[in-house]
Amino acid sequence: TGERPFQAAVITLSDKGSQGQRKDESGPAIVKRLEEKGYQVVETLLLADEQAVLERQLIRLCDQRQLDLILTTGGTGFAPRDVTPEATMAVAQRNAPGIAEAIRAASLRITPRAMLSRGVSVIRGKTLIVNLPGSPKAVQESMDVFLDVIPHGLTLLR
Ligand code: MTE
Repeated sequence: TGERPFQAAVITLSDKGSQGQRKDESGPAIVKRLEEKGYQVVETLLLADEQAVLERQLIRLCDQRQLDLILTTGGTGFAPRDVTPEATMAVAQRNAPGIAEAIRAASLRITPRAMLSRGVSVIRGKTLIVNLPGSPKAVQESMDVFLDVIPHGLTLLR
């Protein structure tokens, strides 16, 4: 075990980002952290907040590319166009709620607004999918929680 590096994709959900009206800082921040931890980031996507589009990309990355990990950022709040958790649940085969629970628990100690993220963590095939909130700050705080823990889970998924 531990021979080949874990392969990951990072998906940013942002209407403004996808239209070039806002620079995506969260996606690159996730990529940087993953690469520092030895992950191979094989794809990054910047998508509008469209449930069907995200579902299609998640299915492709899980079923065709058979990635170990997909991290999404954004679209987890209460706005009508925040559909990341719905897309993620729609493609899920198994729930893995502990990661989302741990993110919210740790984040609540930083800001009460953490309770406004509806992010989920699930498994499809051999791929773990984790939803992170959208802001660069939230992304860093969330990754602090699980990055050192999930390799054990990813090894079991192989
Ligand atoms: N979690 C952490 N760790 N730090 C944060 O600053 N912001 C919250 C929450 N989770 C935050 C956080 C806020 S203000 C919102 S609205 C929700 O995440 C949803 O964010 P999203 O819609 O960008 O996904």
